[in-house]
Amino acid sequence: MPNDVLIAPSILSSDFSRLGEEVAAVDAAGADWIHLDVMDGHFVPNITFGPPVIKAIRGASRKLFDVHLMIEPADPYLAAFAEAGCDLITVHAEASRHVDRSLQAIRALGKKAGLALNPATPENVVEYALDRLDLVLLMTVNPGFGGQAYIAAVAEKVRRVKAMIGDRPIRIEVDGGITPETAPEVVAAGADVLVAGSAVFSGGTPEHYRANIAALRAAAGPALPHA
Ligand code: DX5
Ligand code: ZN
Repeated sequence: MPNDVLIAPSILSSDFSRLGEEVAAVDAAGADWIHLDVMDGHFVPNITFGPPVIKAIRGASRKLFDVHLMIEPADPYLAAFAEAGCDLITVHAEASRHVDRSLQAIRALGKKAGLALNPATPENVVEYALDRLDLVLLMTVNPGFGGQAYIAAVAEKVRRVKAMIGDRPIRIEVDGGITPETAPEVVAAGADVLVAGSAVFSGGTPEHYRANIAALRAAAGPALPHA
């Protein structure tokens, strides 16, 4: 695993009336991945967008489309997200009765598979799924909204998941309240993908996005070495 921390802007904080332009702008501003938050108004108390919108913006960037499914159930929609152009599909452990089956289904579609955990969900649900995973997403806020405060207790969970992963090629992504102030703590614990919505899109111009991404990258520093 390369010794770098990836920055994944969440388009949840972008201007939805210009979604394609916003994706192209954060791509040009130095984003490594594009993070797409899909919400169903059932698993989380908010509704965003689905496969047709993702398909419409796919052409705006060649970077990895990292889709975070906050939907329950997820299995019936995995193929549609794969066809829309998602490269990495993450499901929530709390939203899937058969996590192992969901992860197998994602890989069978030829996509990378991720498993997300809410702040209060213990890390042991990851243990027997490790060989089916490309990414573990540890929520550092309760999912549903951008702009919430980082929950510091999750740093310990990041540390435990990092130890569990050992030398497997699995990334640890953190999502929620990540800023240049909170990034160093999660990176020191073992996170190597930082999702950031408000911290990237604040200011609202491509110049701001470039400066915001650079500030996150500088604060994050290099990732911890792989075990
Ligand atoms: C929350 C989403 C996040 C959110 C992060 O449910 O999963 O990706 O957009 O936003 P910030 O960085 O503003 O906390
Ligand atoms: Zn997210």
